[in-house]
Amino acid sequence: MQHFDSVLKENRIFKPSDDFRQAANIGQLEDYQNLWEFADKDYLQYWADLARDLISWKKPFMTIFDDSNAPFYKWFPDGKLNVSYNCLDRHLPDKGNKTALIFESDFGQVSSFSYAQLHNRVCRFGNALRELGIGKGDRVVIYMPMLVEAVIAMQACARIGAVHSVVFGGFSAGALRDRIEDAGAKLVITANGGLRGGKIIPLKETVDEALDMGCPTVENVVVYYRLNIDTAWRNGRDLWWHELSKHQPEFCEPEWMNSEDPLFILYTSGSTGKPKGIVHSSAGYLLGAINTFRNVFDNKPNDVYWCTADVGWITGHSYVCYGPLANGATQVIYEGVPSYPDPGRIWRIIQRHKINVFYTSPTLIRSLTRVGDWIPNKYDLSSLRLLGSVGEPINPSAWMWLYEVIGKERCPIVDTWWQTETGSIMLSPLPGINSMKPGSCALPLPGIMADVVDETGQRISGQSGGLLVIKRPFPSMLRTIWNDDKRYQATYFPAELGGKYYVAGDSAHRDEDGYFWILGRTDDVLNVSGHRLGTMEIESALVANPQVAEAAVVGRPDEIKGEAVVAFVVLNTALPEGQEARDLAEQLKQWVSKEIGKIARPEDIRFAENLPKTRSGKIMRRLLRSIAKNEVITQDVSTLENPQIIGQLQRQVL
Ligand code: PRX
Repeated sequence: MQHFDSVLKENRIFKPSDDFRQAANIGQLEDYQNLWEFADKDYLQYWADLARDLISWKKPFMTIFDDSNAPFYKWFPDGKLNVSYNCLDRHLPDKGNKTALIFESDFGQVSSFSYAQLHNRVCRFGNALRELGIGKGDRVVIYMPMLVEAVIAMQACARIGAVHSVVFGGFSAGALRDRIEDAGAKLVITANGGLRGGKIIPLKETVDEALDMGCPTVENVVVYYRLNIDTAWRNGRDLWWHELSKHQPEFCEPEWMNSEDPLFILYTSGSTGKPKGIVHSSAGYLLGAINTFRNVFDNKPNDVYWCTADVGWITGHSYVCYGPLANGATQVIYEGVPSYPDPGRIWRIIQRHKINVFYTSPTLIRSLTRVGDWIPNKYDLSSLRLLGSVGEPINPSAWMWLYEVIGKERCPIVDTWWQTETGSIMLSPLPGINSMKPGSCALPLPGIMADVVDETGQRISGQSGGLLVIKRPFPSMLRTIWNDDKRYQATYFPAELGGKYYVAGDSAHRDEDGYFWILGRTDDVLNVSGHRLGTMEIESALVANPQVAEAAVVGRPDEIKGEAVVAFVVLNTALPEGQEARDLAEQLKQWVSKEIGKIARPEDIRFAENLPKTRSGKIMRRLLRSIAKNEVITQDVSTLENPQIIGQLQRQVL
C-alpha cells in the first residue's frame, strides 16, 4: 500500500501526558509489568482471574481451558452465564437510571435510554421472539439500520440464547440470501427502511427480494417501523415489531448458556468466493470485549463514548453492543452518514454530547482531513480525552492530524489492531502506559502472545515483515467457521506452522522496541474503507454477468479509502471502445453493487481480450497490481503467454 514508505521512515514518538497516565485504569508501569509477568508465567490463571472478576456467572466454572480437541479450544467450559444479563441486569441495582444509549438520528433528533429502559425493551422483545418459537441455538439474521433497535435485537437474541447473525445493511439481496441460507436462519429482523444522508434505504424490500430467491428456513420477518412509508407485506410471514412487543411481560428470564454456546455468527470475507461465518462463543468473547473496552478505552464511570462503526461489523458488535454495555458505559449511537448534511457533522455530535472517547476509522479521518482544519476548529472538542482508530492501517499524516487538530496533542490515540476472528482488540497501546508511534498499533495487550514469524514459524525481525501470528489461544478467539470446521483449521492453524499458531492473514514487522507495524493482508483480501472484501467474491460476482467471460480483481492504493477495487474483465464479445466501453464499465460496476453491495463497487474496470497468464495458466496478479497503479512495467514478463495484452490492460476506460 502507498503508506508503506512513510511508515517505514516513521520515527516520531509521543508519550501520554502525566495527567492522563495518573488517572488511567492502567497507568502504573509496575501494574502493567505485573500483568505481563503473570500472563507469561501462569497464562491460564491470568485469564481465569479476569473471567471471575469481570463476568457475572450463573454457575462458576471449574475448568479454565480445554485443548483436548485443538484447535477447537474451549474456555471456562463448565460455566454458565447469560451475555445480556451481563450487559443489562447486573447494572440495574446501582446504574438503572444511568444513560446507556444516546441516539442521534440522521436528521438530528436525540433520544436516550437508561439501563432500566434498555433492559425493559430487550426483555419485551426477547419475550416476543420466544412467542414466535425462537429459542436456544436458533439462528436469527438481523438486517437493520444503525438504530438502538439493532442493539435491542442483538441483546434480545443473546437473552434467549438465539444465535444472531447481523448482516450489514449495505449488503445486497443476493449477499443477504447467501448469509441467511448458510446460517439456516429461522427469523429475519429488519426495519421498513433506514435513513442515511437524508435518503431512504429500503431494507425490507431487500429482505423480500432475498427471501424470494430462496431461504426456505425462514419462517417469519419482524419489521421495525422506522419510517412512514408504504411497506410491502406478506401476511402470515411478516410481523410488526411494535405489535409483537406491546403486550409482552417486562421481564424475560435469561437463558442460561454454557460458556461455549455460540453467541453469534458474523460473516466476513476470506480468500475464496464464499464468505466465512465466524462463530463466537458466549463467555470467552464477552471477556475479551469487557476487558479491552475497560483498558484500551480507559473507561471511566462518567465517560461518554462514541464508536462510529455499524453493528453490521465486528467493531459494532464488540465496541457498540457488548463491550460498552457490559461495562455499564454511556455511549452515543448515530444513525447516519458522518458527512451529512455537511462535513462538520461528526464534530457537532462530539460537541453536542460532550464525547470523551471517540473511536473511528482511518478512512473517515482521511476524508475529514481533506475538507480543512477550519471545520473541526469551529467546534468545541475539549471534552475529548482519548481517540481510537480501527479497521485498516492509519497513515502517519492522518494520525498526526487526528493527534494535533482534533486531540490538540492532549489525547492519546489507540491504534487498535484486531479482526472479526479475534473478537476483541489484540494489539494497541494502553493509553496510560505505552508511547505512541504514528502508524504503529504498538504492542500486544497483556496475555496476547502475538509475534511475527516466517513461513516455518520461526520468529523474524526486520522491515520486510512476516506473518502476524498469535502463539497461544485466547478466550475471545473464533471457535470455528459455521458449517466448516475444516476450513477453520486449515485457514487459521495451518500445518506448515505446526498447527498451533493462530495465523491472522496479515503481514507485519516489529521494530527495535517490539512495536508492530501492519503491512497488509497476505491473502486475496482487500481492505476498502476498512471493509474486508475478497477479490474472489468480486470476481465471482463479475463472471455471473452473462457478458463476462473472465475477471481478475486487485486492490489499488487509494488516498481516502486505503484501497480501491480495480477489475480486469474479459468479455464474451469483442473488445469495446469509447462510449460502448464506458457504458459497459458502468453497467458492470452497478452489477457488482447489486450482487454484493455498494462497498464492493469497482472504481476502475479495464477490458482486454485476455488476462496476463503464465504458460501454466496462472493469472499474474502482481503484474495486474502494477498495471492498476499505472506503474511503468519493470517486471519480467517473459513467462507471459500473451504479452501483447499488457497494452490493452493499461488502457483506462475514461
Ligand atoms: O488487515 C487487518 C485490518 O483489518 C483486518 C480485519 O478486518 P475485519 O475482520 O473486518 O475487522 C476490522 C475491525 C477490527 C485485519 O486483518 N486491520 C484492522 N485493524 C487494523 C488493521 N490494519 C492495520 N491497523 C489496524 N489498526
